[in-house]
Amino acid sequence: MKITFTDTAKSEIVAFLVDETGKLPRDAADLDKASGGLLSEAIGTGRFEGKAGQMALVVLPKGSDARRAVLVGTGKDAPDARGQETIGAKLYKAQANSGFKTLDLFVDEPEAAARIALGAKLAAYRFDKYRTKLKPEDKPTLTGFKIVIDDAKAARAAFKPLSAAADGTYLARDLVNMAPNDLYPASYASLIEELAEEGLEVEILGEKELKKLGMNSMLGVGQGSVKESKLGIMKWMGGKKGADPAILVGKGVCFDTGGISLKPGAGMEDMRGDMGGSAAVVGTMLSLAKRKAKANVIGLVGLVENMPDGDAIRPGDVLTSASGQTIEVQNTDAEGRLVLCDVLWYAQKHFKPAAIVDLATLTGAIVIGLGHHHAGLFSNDDDLAAQLTAAGQVEGEKAWRLPLGPEYDSLLKSKFADMRNIGGRAAGSITAAQFLQRFIDEGTKWAHLDIAGVAWVEGKKAAHDVSWASGFGPRLLDRWIADNFEG
Ligand code: BES
Ligand code: MN
Ligand code: ZN
Repeated sequence: MKITFTDTAKSEIVAFLVDETGKLPRDAADLDKASGGLLSEAIGTGRFEGKAGQMALVVLPKGSDARRAVLVGTGKDAPDARGQETIGAKLYKAQANSGFKTLDLFVDEPEAAARIALGAKLAAYRFDKYRTKLKPEDKPTLTGFKIVIDDAKAARAAFKPLSAAADGTYLARDLVNMAPNDLYPASYASLIEELAEEGLEVEILGEKELKKLGMNSMLGVGQGSVKESKLGIMKWMGGKKGADPAILVGKGVCFDTGGISLKPGAGMEDMRGDMGGSAAVVGTMLSLAKRKAKANVIGLVGLVENMPDGDAIRPGDVLTSASGQTIEVQNTDAEGRLVLCDVLWYAQKHFKPAAIVDLATLTGAIVIGLGHHHAGLFSNDDDLAAQLTAAGQVEGEKAWRLPLGPEYDSLLKSKFADMRNIGGRAAGSITAAQFLQRFIDEGTKWAHLDIAGVAWVEGKKAAHDVSWASGFGPRLLDRWIADNFEG
């Protein structure tokens, strides 16, 4: 769908924002008059009072400039960014299958226009890759979503970075939605390589190289799979030459069966989304490239498949991670941390990070703790934690900080090795974060986002959540980069 901003209207559908004062906006006056007062009549009749979320459809008389008018309620007070996005998403969805192709929405404020457009763009996402039987009536007709605004230039400028972030959301959704027989480490790596066309510098390491680097913890997870494990490295160096990069690290478990500690069958198909952390990172890298961000950012994704097999790692195995620290594997289903610990090591060994943020669908416990509306946030740095929380607030991808501490760390003690990969039943998300922290050097700013509850959509959805995969991450991370690394 094409989103544009102009100062002249000419579409099949015209839409107007109406607040709870019940007054028709000035932009609608001519049409109201020409239609014999049909628009003003729609306010206060039926249940339409301009409340947020309400909509009234008016069929316009023959000979009118447009075929339909839509009145969109905005509520009592001016809507905030989330409310504006919701307006765009709901209006798009209401008219997407109307049979009409073009829509004009009249908006006054450039910032509001940009947020409404973002909502519409996010809501227009579709994942039809595997459908072969879609009938024309199953597909949206609306191809043009136009915002009519006096200062179209300002609106366009405000939308540009939001649109780039939404491109990242789209990509993250696509990756998470893809079937695990279609998206496995090698095919995923090929998709990442294609991002070179967007201006990213991309490098892929395979098992031979990873072995040489000693990344045996990550390799251990992949060893039960016939699919080769890969490390994806993406660089966007749009910032000052020599400035330390922000590093994003993502868990890319393309499918998580649990391994020998096999998961129960029911719902296992959801584990196609266990690469959601990596999708957030890849999506963000695309966003940065799309808007030519003035920052140095490196994205690292550990791509593996966790399968049971004669050659799979066993509970009781001891792995030597790239950092040299040894890990007793007590549960092969706690595999994400085994991947991340080596990638985190790589990030610090090969680069000088200004900060590292890792994202992972790491623990079921975070879903129990925070449900589906906040990611779990862990950090060794209060400022970094505050920056990420704020970025999430601005973009509606919320994160909630949880504690770290030596009491939790001690739960990782092993009888045989430097640590074990599980901490017991209590505080499962915290012990997972503690495990990761053991691979962070003193003085390195680091944060971990456990996105197991938010990477795919369960329960109450936002209006723009239109697919199973939410695409969580790029909006938060892109905002974090923009607000903290670009002057
Ligand atoms: N990928 C899962 C975590 C997960 C669970 C993500 C539910 C999304 C929804 C992870 O690899 C896992 O299996 N974690 C275990 C850890 C446990 C064995 C310590 C878990 O949470 O049960
Ligand atoms: Mn697992
Ligand atoms: Zn997993």
